[in-house]
Amino acid sequence: MTDTSTALARIAPSQTTAMTDRAMELRAQGLDIISLSVGEPDFATPPHVVAAAKAALDAGDTKYTAVGGTARLKQAAALHFERDLGIAAPVSQVTISAGGKQAIFHALLATLDPGDEVLIPAPWWVSYPEIVRFAGATVVPIQTTAAGGFRITAEQLEAAITPQTRWILLNSPGNPTGATYPAEELRALGEVLARHPRVLVMSDDIYAPLRYSSGDHATIAVECPAIADRVLTVSGVSKSHAMTGFRIGVATGPQWLIRAMEKLQSHSSGNPCSISQAAAVAAFEGPQDFLLDWRDRFRARRDRVVAAVNAIPGLSTPVPDGAFYCMVDAAPLMGRFGDDSALALHLLEHGVAIVAASGFGGKDGFRISFAADEATLEEALRRIAKAVT
Ligand SMILES: Cc1ncc(COP(=O)(O)O)c(C=O)c1O
Repeated sequence: MTDTSTALARIAPSQTTAMTDRAMELRAQGLDIISLSVGEPDFATPPHVVAAAKAALDAGDTKYTAVGGTARLKQAAALHFERDLGIAAPVSQVTISAGGKQAIFHALLATLDPGDEVLIPAPWWVSYPEIVRFAGATVVPIQTTAAGGFRITAEQLEAAITPQTRWILLNSPGNPTGATYPAEELRALGEVLARHPRVLVMSDDIYAPLRYSSGDHATIAVECPAIADRVLTVSGVSKSHAMTGFRIGVATGPQWLIRAMEKLQSHSSGNPCSISQAAAVAAFEGPQDFLLDWRDRFRARRDRVVAAVNAIPGLSTPVPDGAFYCMVDAAPLMGRFGDDSALALHLLEHGVAIVAASGFGGKDGFRISFAADEATLEEALRRIAKAVT
């Protein structure tokens, strides 16, 4: 008997992971493949974080912790929410999970029933719709455009809400487009949401330190106090502190939801890794100034990638304001390649792994991750230009 569950049959494997795995396979066969498919900073994890992990091992912090994380890390995460996002988060309303992904997974699984609808601006981060489908709920895409900065409007939101709507998933700065919502647009969305008290709001702020224009990061829990008691804000150290392998995510929201997430976590992973938790304390409480240098490096790479892509006939991209991704439009090339998956394969044959826009609920394009060093990006852009011209 090999049949899997009906819940599993509703979901597809992650296309970003699939492309990254394929690139690794081809490399193992000796082919020269540059992977711009993965959303992971190329910088080394900061030494003070690594030292904290080693110290935790030496101190024997190798046992179970509280399911929702150590009191120490919850305090450090509360500091992060307050200092970096402006959210006054009591420790009792903070939880720690094995990556931001797990926090999102548990929040959705803990609240969705069949028949519920979840609004997701498209293009979206690959895991959002799959988690919603796994939970048995219905994905309601809200389509955005490059011309509109890949952001939804208050009018689109109002039109999409029905009595079945349970969640809206916001991600700013966003993966895969870099879309970043200014405060006034969040307030407009908040006014709509204030009229619909059943709707919960996920604010995935995991890329908050990676914003390229001036001004503070805006987040809906702060901009819209009237709905703050039904906002779950998700953050972490994976992207900001180059700690993807540590698997630590943090979330703050209403107490009932935090408790529900921890209830589920108590039966899934249990506590997040004790060593990683100690490392995350160091990340949140240690020096933060290097993040500005990293951001400047990412901004310079973004500018280079945008200029190079826009110089290739048939390809264009707007300037993303955050995160480390460009959503490239390749519509003029579709006559030649058929669809964006075929284009992605063609680029792979020319030595560059990227992910087709259709993997993110978009179309006729692809996502480039510019979280790679400058020389690698230059070579990848040269290969892309050669492959399509
Ligand atoms: C938008 C978004 N949210 C959440 C995550 C999860 O990050 P992690 O589970 O590595 O902390 C990612 C990672 O790719 C992401 O892009």
